[in-house]
Amino acid sequence: MPTTSQCRICDGTVTEFIDFGRQPLSDAFVVPGEEKKEFFFRLATGICDSCTMVQLMEEVPRDLMFHEAYPYHSSGSAVMREHFTELAKRLLTTELTGDDPFIVELGCNDGIMLKAVAEAGVRQLGVEPSGGVADLAAAKGIRVRKDFFEEATAADIRKNDGPADVIYAANTLCHIPYMDSILKGVTTLLGPNGVFVFEDPYLGDIVERTSFDQIYDEHFFFFTARSVQEMAARNGLELVDVERIPVHGGEVRYTLALAGARKPTQAVAELLAWETERKLAEYATLESFATNVKKIKEDLIALLTKLRAEGKRVVGYGATAKSATVTNFCGITPDLVEFISDTTPAKQGRLSPGQHIPVREYREFADDHPDYALLFAWNHADEIMNAEQAFRDSGGQWIRYVPNVHVS
Ligand code: SAM
Ligand code: TMP
Ligand code: ZN
Repeated sequence: MPTTSQCRICDGTVTEFIDFGRQPLSDAFVVPGEEKKEFFFRLATGICDSCTMVQLMEEVPRDLMFHEAYPYHSSGSAVMREHFTELAKRLLTTELTGDDPFIVELGCNDGIMLKAVAEAGVRQLGVEPSGGVADLAAAKGIRVRKDFFEEATAADIRKNDGPADVIYAANTLCHIPYMDSILKGVTTLLGPNGVFVFEDPYLGDIVERTSFDQIYDEHFFFFTARSVQEMAARNGLELVDVERIPVHGGEVRYTLALAGARKPTQAVAELLAWETERKLAEYATLESFATNVKKIKEDLIALLTKLRAEGKRVVGYGATAKSATVTNFCGITPDLVEFISDTTPAKQGRLSPGQHIPVREYREFADDHPDYALLFAWNHADEIMNAEQAFRDSGGQWIRYVPNVHVS
């Protein structure tokens, strides 16, 4: 009998389809000497038999993940800066055109999106519990509330600032297990014709590409149009638009409105039909995803072990949160990958969670190119390939594991 848990959306039964075993916190980069203090939990994913929401079987307390020293800085990628500036421009010319419009962003991080809104002089509020990144946003002239968004926060914002025309969240909603409180907060805060827009990794892309490393502590939910539609309906909201976007390995941008306020677009019906045809919400589809994941694990370890035997140098590229699942599930130890290069100062000089591979600054990669680079930041591949012609010119090769293990 597969393991089960209770659905965080509808109280239905969640049936497990993959177990990654004991895993550390994906963004908890370890100070050398403090290896023994690490927190571990069982990382496993299941699908709700009733509302079809794919979700983690176990939940990590939020304060362990989102705190003063949360190391993920959104502005580290030029492509993402461009992506969010474009989105801000679009919202400014569509939803934020009325008299004194107001936008609230959940998880504004270092202000990558709200910067353009603040510069346009439109009223904004970022809600961001991680103090360090919240300070970076405030330094850009953005109004920030250092808090977790939930029902009570929403009521307080509504009291102080009035209703929101837009509530926005990128790569944040899927991080929050207490969805009931969030959606109650959204309906409290949203104006009568307001929209709740959020974008997160799409289960359709994860299954198509076998991008199993999207599964880690912070990613609690894996949305589809179908599961989002059900989740919205339970809370007096309605899914009125969807848009597939290419960032972070394939995401969907969902738009919710108060039920009946807006007419759903044709794109909603089309994505729902595609999901049905693809059998995305069926247990058998997810079981075959799990089989593909196991094959990647075997192939990757076989390749790295062979390269070690040949005396080749392999360095990881990008100490992503995702890479924690890859290194810990596959068993990639520091004797297989010498170090991981990362441009984020908060990660440098530390050790990767669980496997304790040293994280070093980018210069160490550029000054002494290895034979192979293992592309952990595969979701930024285009940006990285453009920047790394010199690595290729030196004879360097890339190892990738999504959608399968290959060297190029
Ligand atoms: N929006 C940025 C982006 O797309 O690059 C940041 C995404 S980051 C992966 C997730 C952010 O959500 C973190 O900065 C975290 O502190 C924040 N967060 C977590 N729980 C939250 C909550 N309940 N309310 C608001 N923000 C939250
Ligand atoms: P993400 O996949 O969650 O966006 O994280 C990307 C990580 O990769 C982040 O720690 C920054 C790092 N990175 C580099 O080191 N070099 C790069 O060129 C890019 C785009 C990211
Ligand atoms: Zn459910």
